[in-house]
Amino acid sequence: MSALQRIGVLTGGGDCPGLNAVIRAVVKTAIFEYGLEVVGVRDGFLGLIENRIEPLTLQDASNILTRGGTILGTSNKANPKRFKVGEDASGGPIFEDVTDRVLANIEQAGLDALVCIGGDGTMTCAQGIIERGVRCVGVPKTIDNDLMHTDVTFGFHTAVQTACEALDRIHTTASSHHRVMLVETMGRNAGWLALYAGAASGADVILIPEIPYDLDVVCNYCLGRNGKGKSFTIITVSEGAKPIGGEVVVDQVIPDSPDPIRLGGVSEVLADQISERTGLETRATILGHVQRGGSPVAYDRVLATRFGHKAMELLGGGEFNRMVVHERGQITSVPISEVADQQRLVPLDHPLLAAVRAIGVCMGNR
Ligand code: F6P
Repeated sequence: MSALQRIGVLTGGGDCPGLNAVIRAVVKTAIFEYGLEVVGVRDGFLGLIENRIEPLTLQDASNILTRGGTILGTSNKANPKRFKVGEDASGGPIFEDVTDRVLANIEQAGLDALVCIGGDGTMTCAQGIIERGVRCVGVPKTIDNDLMHTDVTFGFHTAVQTACEALDRIHTTASSHHRVMLVETMGRNAGWLALYAGAASGADVILIPEIPYDLDVVCNYCLGRNGKGKSFTIITVSEGAKPIGGEVVVDQVIPDSPDPIRLGGVSEVLADQISERTGLETRATILGHVQRGGSPVAYDRVLATRFGHKAMELLGGGEFNRMVVHERGQITSVPISEVADQQRLVPLDHPLLAAVRAIGVCMGNR
């Protein structure tokens, strides 16, 4: 195999704090340690499909460690294997496999390898081009913390901090008004964000997708707190939480997205149900995209720097087609094929679940 001379970097899927910190680490390590040329691909795999590729210099990578978002832009609607190329007579999307176009653009740009910074959708896209001979490394990003084989993704701890600060504020107003306050976090089908933010802010009830809730249990818990002289209840609910035997609440369906379902609104549904059944006053707050924004916390800046550096170590050492992971305190790597199309949910024997239950938090099922 030929030695590396020029590499590309892209950020795909939903953004999160720390993307720029990874880009910075990749660009600086590539140039300082390996003497490589680096180019940036705009808007994730969309930029590879549309051939939007530009040089990434040391100057571009300077002063971005603390900046939220991604200087490269991103897209969560561009899987080359299933790309929307038009609409049929009834307005439905027409999809095509445009991988050949991607391969031609990679060749034209002279890219010897690609650093793909993203979540499971991006790793799935990366796997698609790996199978056609492109050399990639992956870096795990997402506020959802739901990538297989890594104990943590960068961006998660910043989102937990943001949600926790919001919950702290909700706490004071809940107490003044003696209300049941529901705060809905993101996270898709994984409850990491709700669990960590709820635990960190002292939520009374935490509802996560992995543990379907019983509405009676939640209502009785709220009434029970009132009976014990506690005049308010804080419920942290993950957007993917659902009742036992019931369904998630879907906010919208985006047909040309690799993962078309957007969740949202369960807190509002629950607020109405709880108030109807208990007579208690309820309010719902959906935190939404605020959880994805802003400057990364120190932990994520360090993790992103280590991930970016490790990605370059893998490329420099000829270890292609692997994703960097954080496993039991070590930064190591796994094949991207083992991560694509997978989700890491909260295991029911997770120690934090035992800890919050032991201190009286209701997890919705008992
Ligand atoms: O995967 C990150 C995430 O923020 C999820 O938590 C959320 O369900 C989804 O993306 C929202 O996607 P969009 O930015 O398309 O609304």
